[in-house]
Amino acid sequence: MGAVSLFSLTRTIAGLAVGALVLSGCGSSLGESGQSGSGGTQSGGAVKLGLLVPLSGVYAPVGEDIKAGFELYLDQHDGKLGGRDVDLVTTDEGEGPQTGVPAAQKLVTQDQVAAVAGVVNSATALGLRDFFDESKKPLLIANAGADDITGARKSEYVWRTSFSNGQVSGALGPAVAEEVKGSVYLIAADYAAGKEMVAGFRKSFEAAGGKVAGEKYTPFGKTQDFQPYLSAIRKSGADAVYAFYAGAEAVNFVKQYQQFGLAEKTPLYGTGFLTEGGVLAAQGKAAVGVKTSLHYSTELDGAVNKEFMAAYQEKAKKPPTVYAVQGYDTAAVLDKALAEADGDSGDALVKALGKVGPVDSPRGSWKFDADHNAEQTFYLREVRADGKTAVNAVVDELD
Ligand code: PHB
Repeated sequence: MGAVSLFSLTRTIAGLAVGALVLSGCGSSLGESGQSGSGGTQSGGAVKLGLLVPLSGVYAPVGEDIKAGFELYLDQHDGKLGGRDVDLVTTDEGEGPQTGVPAAQKLVTQDQVAAVAGVVNSATALGLRDFFDESKKPLLIANAGADDITGARKSEYVWRTSFSNGQVSGALGPAVAEEVKGSVYLIAADYAAGKEMVAGFRKSFEAAGGKVAGEKYTPFGKTQDFQPYLSAIRKSGADAVYAFYAGAEAVNFVKQYQQFGLAEKTPLYGTGFLTEGGVLAAQGKAAVGVKTSLHYSTELDGAVNKEFMAAYQEKAKKPPTVYAVQGYDTAAVLDKALAEADGDSGDALVKALGKVGPVDSPRGSWKFDADHNAEQTFYLREVRADGKTAVNAVVDELD
């Protein structure tokens, strides 16, 4: 795994208000039939699709990887999905629902895309659910893990090719309960995903006999100095720590955890986003020993992954990430659905999505469950030095 691009650590991050969201004027402006308009979406012709990912803000590197994965799949299929030319409209999700929701609405109502793929932030996904449900347009979530999206608030029109927060965090709990003899401190970014990543971990960890030493949420997108929180962790006497951070926050947290002297005595666990891709490259040696759960690692042995890694490296000039795989798989799912669908209406597409079957992915084979979430294997990974770089070695499969 070669060196990968670093995240910008100097970015000043605007606060993300992730609270209640008023979806003013979000009713569908589609025609009564729900059919797409003149956007080149008639059956058999070109199909217009929206790609909504952060191209700015704290999760921009995540969005760039999803986009690169999606575009790689298109490159490999002659720019076609389901045998049809694709007119892809890419739009910036930004840092949260304030930007992401209107951007998605524009894709559907003005650009008249047949479906939207993408969405990184859980709060944005939650803010979009009703709009897609009411518009009867398919939304294929390629990252955001908000539990309710494929749970209490599931919709016929909303599908997820990535993970749910409870799934990826819950997979780790029993392994940590078994490894750590003592108590674990829980810390995460203060927004929808952070809360669910802690709740999911806590549930399976406590069920396996684990003890919690403390729980803390840090202002999302605004925290650059973690010292006060690291002091609190030390004071708590915890024997280990579980954390959810992604992007620039993950870089700062893991580096400061090591600089503060906690890494030597207090093992750090987390969801795999804590040490993924460019984040890991920026953390370097500070991340060695961190153990995480995720549904992908560049170190997976399968032939599909090897082929994907070579092609992605060639295109993006860096190794892939779980985000790139999720983008790639979202295109693969759309490929199958468009081949099967009778026309472009939302109803025809969601009917076809229900028939997609197993996806032969770089992460291993996965399929949609009854709630439209990805049913897949999670891996226990440990950061190990590999020459001059660090990699997420696959230690085990998690149930
Ligand atoms: C989320 O908000 O659901 C989210 C964002 C970034 C990640 C993982 C989950 O890396």
